[in-house]
Amino acid sequence: MESRKLLPFTLCLLLPCTYFTLSHSAKFGNDTDKLALLVFKNQITHDPFATLSNWNDSVHFCRWNGVICGSRHERVVVLDLQSKNLTGTISPHIGNLTFLRKVRLRYNYFHGKIPEEMGRLYRLQAIGLTQNLLQGEIPVNLTQCLELRILDLVANSLEGRIPLELGKLEKLTELGLAANHLIGPIPKSLANLTFLREFSLSENRLSGNIPEELGQLRQLRMFQISSNGLLTGSIPAQLFNLSLMEYFGISENQLIGEIPPDIGFTLPNVRILLLGKNHFYGSIPSSITNASKLEWIFIPFGQLTGSIPQELGKLKNLVRLNLGMNELGNEEGNDLGFLSSLVNCTKLEVLAFNNNTLTGVLPSHITNLSSNLNYLLMGANRISGGIPNDIQKLENLILIGMEKNLFTGQIPASIGLIKNLQVLSIFGNKFSGEIPQSIGNLTSLVELGLDDNSLQGNIPSTLGNCQNLQRLSVANNSLSGTIPKEVIGIPSITDWLVLSANKLTGPIPVELGKMRQIIHLDLSDNRLSGELPSSLVSCESLEFLYLSEVPEGGIFKNASEISIVGNGNLCGGPAALHLQKCTPHRVHSGKLWRRLYIRILIILIVSVGTCAILICSILILHRRKTVRRNDTTPADNEKKFQKITYAELSRATDGFSSAKKIGTGSYGSVYKGCSGELLVAVKVLDLQQRGASKSFIAECEALRSIRHRNLLKIVTSCSSIDFAGNEFKALVYDYMPNGSLEKWLHVDNADDQNSGRRELSFVQRVSIAIDIAQALDYLHHHADPPVVHCDLKPSNVLLDNDMTAHVGDFGLARLLHDKNPQIQSSLSTGAFKGSIGYVAPEYGMAGEISTRGDVYSFGILVMEMFTGKKPTDEMFMEDLSLHGYVNRSIPDGVAEIVDSKLLEEVFHHQYINRATTSRKQNNAQECLTSILKIGILCSAEQPRERLDMEEVVVKLQSVRKMI
Ligand SMILES: *[C@@H]1O[C@H](CO)[C@@H](O)[C@H](O)[C@H]1NC(C)=O
Ligand SMILES: *[C@@H]1O[C@H](CO)[C@@H](O)[C@H](O)[C@H]1NC(C)=O
Ligand SMILES: *[C@@H]1O[C@H](CO)[C@@H](O)[C@H](O)[C@H]1NC(C)=O
Ligand SMILES: *[C@@H]1O[C@H](CO)[C@@H](O)[C@H](O)[C@H]1NC(C)=O
Repeated sequence: MESRKLLPFTLCLLLPCTYFTLSHSAKFGNDTDKLALLVFKNQITHDPFATLSNWNDSVHFCRWNGVICGSRHERVVVLDLQSKNLTGTISPHIGNLTFLRKVRLRYNYFHGKIPEEMGRLYRLQAIGLTQNLLQGEIPVNLTQCLELRILDLVANSLEGRIPLELGKLEKLTELGLAANHLIGPIPKSLANLTFLREFSLSENRLSGNIPEELGQLRQLRMFQISSNGLLTGSIPAQLFNLSLMEYFGISENQLIGEIPPDIGFTLPNVRILLLGKNHFYGSIPSSITNASKLEWIFIPFGQLTGSIPQELGKLKNLVRLNLGMNELGNEEGNDLGFLSSLVNCTKLEVLAFNNNTLTGVLPSHITNLSSNLNYLLMGANRISGGIPNDIQKLENLILIGMEKNLFTGQIPASIGLIKNLQVLSIFGNKFSGEIPQSIGNLTSLVELGLDDNSLQGNIPSTLGNCQNLQRLSVANNSLSGTIPKEVIGIPSITDWLVLSANKLTGPIPVELGKMRQIIHLDLSDNRLSGELPSSLVSCESLEFLYLSEVPEGGIFKNASEISIVGNGNLCGGPAALHLQKCTPHRVHSGKLWRRLYIRILIILIVSVGTCAILICSILILHRRKTVRRNDTTPADNEKKFQKITYAELSRATDGFSSAKKIGTGSYGSVYKGCSGELLVAVKVLDLQQRGASKSFIAECEALRSIRHRNLLKIVTSCSSIDFAGNEFKALVYDYMPNGSLEKWLHVDNADDQNSGRRELSFVQRVSIAIDIAQALDYLHHHADPPVVHCDLKPSNVLLDNDMTAHVGDFGLARLLHDKNPQIQSSLSTGAFKGSIGYVAPEYGMAGEISTRGDVYSFGILVMEMFTGKKPTDEMFMEDLSLHGYVNRSIPDGVAEIVDSKLLEEVFHHQYINRATTSRKQNNAQECLTSILKIGILCSAEQPRERLDMEEVVVKLQSVRKMI
């Protein structure tokens, strides 16, 4: 104490103390406080509630709004300006309010740095700065405030590392650093904070292991490190032994291990348990049912196996249970026993066990589950049985996800009584019978996915009452009758209406034109007749329209019957039409193209007259985005359906702030954000840009059913209206901490903040090339339908924490509906726009889109990776391309063309240790040559001369074995 009393004086000796010389009496007295407050006010540029309006001479400063003085002296002890929407910086003069105990500035718009001068406030007990826009590092000087109990800096934009010195604040009970941009490890020194009750470091970019020493923090109630993405290793066992723990959140990291078998006994007070999106394996311990206070169990996206504990129903307080996206199941046909006990959980709102391998019959008493249930996700398992007839007892359901199982039977009429239902997703089963009329009572319905079943009868016209419906698909059933005009004219349908592959007859109602916002319409593979209504032109948003199967023969054969008068601007199209080839600048104008195609279509149909089948195929991409439901968690779904998604995304990215911007993609900007527990990248499409909407759809469609470790995973999407009322579309992906390959190859890393970053080694480059090749091989040969990426280049290859490559940006991707993946209608190139340097030469000549085009881009990319030269480098002119440059230097001149950063590793190793490395070094040269040869073969001028990705993978793998 003694030394602290002396502090003002000591400070004076050390600091200039100009004020002291002016007025001795004012030094660190009440006048100083007044002055400090006035300067503080001066730094506030916007005060919408006029909170600081009485901060003037008319009132004593101790009675100014938000100011509290001590009772014995006129000194400021509390500054409380929480939630006043203040904009400005925090003045360093705050450091002169030496009697301050509490600073409460939460929920404002303070920007700039936290002033170091706050370190002089040695009486300070609480700092609350949550949810501002503060930048810079956490000032080490704050660690001089040894009286601090609460340090709450959550949700700012703070950077740098966590100061080791924080371990000095021994009285701290609450440490909140979550939702900033902090990097580096969690310091061991934090284990000294033995009074700590809340430890919140989630949503940063912290890396490394969790220090074992943290297990000493016996007072912890909250341990929250979720969504750092980069934390690795196992969880120190002691952390599971902190018996006061109520909130245990470690999800979305790279943590590995099993859930301790006695977790229910060692964490008896835990209410929130967030373990998902890590690498947990093994089974869910049955002891978990002893943690009777549990409200949330969130363990999706893992590798959990075995059965789900039968006694989960003992957890009477359970509100959310999410075990989706694991490998749960015993294959013995009785995996659903746990559902019986869950009927005791009367508070249950979210129940998700989708995307596992659970087998069994859905018990009919599932309708005895909590009537509070909002989300029920069980898609993509092996569950049989049917929808219980009394499903209406679950009257508060918002989402039913039962897709991709073995369900049979009819859709009960009682489903029409669940009046808040927004999503009914039961596609990919064996449901039979008719679609009940009562479905028309579900007026909140946004998405109805009934495709891939055995439904019969008519499409009920009552569906027309569902005036909120955005996505409707009944494809691949045996539906007959005509298309009800009520259904085809639902104006709210924005995303898709898919009626294909049924037995529908009769004409297409003119009401079609009411769906002005529809992007995809698929009526193909039916028995429709009559004329295509010209009202189709009213569907102004119809984005992706291509006429595959527009056959060479058929109505197109007799070109003389086709009138194209007055369409002098047409280009491309079937050869028989003798239209001019499209030049690239026309190709850019997507909308014009769309209109013209529609016009050709109408003219063709009208002039041919009684063509029995109308749209030979309006092939619609993105027929069933519903499939992606499987990949979303209830939390995502809530975001998707409960809250306005634009607002959510806006919040997750600090209002799409430039600080969160991590790049610019082909059709918009990419932001880093936190969606609940997930660290994500959000791509916001610039819809002003032509083709952006189409790109959105193409990407959704391409990614809806494909899954591969080397493809960037889409977490969810958002199609909404922004605060200004404009259309807004965004895609949300897994966040890739190591950024794009482009950056690694070409950006000078010297001044990169991310200290761990080095050059890519030769071996790393080979691995990345293999990753990319495997991704393409999967897309071309194993995805159904095959996918052509169409825009492969280094900026579309992203690197995760382990430097595993993930191919992303499917904005230009094409699905190949043709059985033969090599062939695709040339019409599809209509709106094509690849990237200069990487795009195959045949695309420039309106050639066909095929997998061979991707192979070309891959060849270029490989040569770029190992030469360090972009195909667009100035040195490549008319007569010399990257391909030619590499080709003429092989094999003897490779040393001249190899990326200079690899020179040492590949060529000069021998001088260091000839005896042991010469063989290796020869191999390295040989490998390099082999790889460059693969690049040359892939980028051959003639598509048919190029390698196939399957061969490329094999070749690259054998190269890797040589190293
Ligand atoms: C400072 O304190 C003195 C004595 O307590 C008092 O007379 C004076 O009015 C105060 N000045 C201000 C600006 O509050
Ligand atoms: C204060 O900020 C909140 C949150 O951003 C906002 O909704 C509100 O409109 C603001 N109020 C004023 C008066 O600016
Ligand atoms: C108060 O703080 C400011 C900025 O840190 C400093 O310039 C000033 O001299 C301090 N002292 C007084 C008595 O105002
Ligand atoms: C921060 O702390 C250091 C070390 O105690 C001190 O020298 C420096 O003056 C402090 N900075 C401010 C602005 O108080």
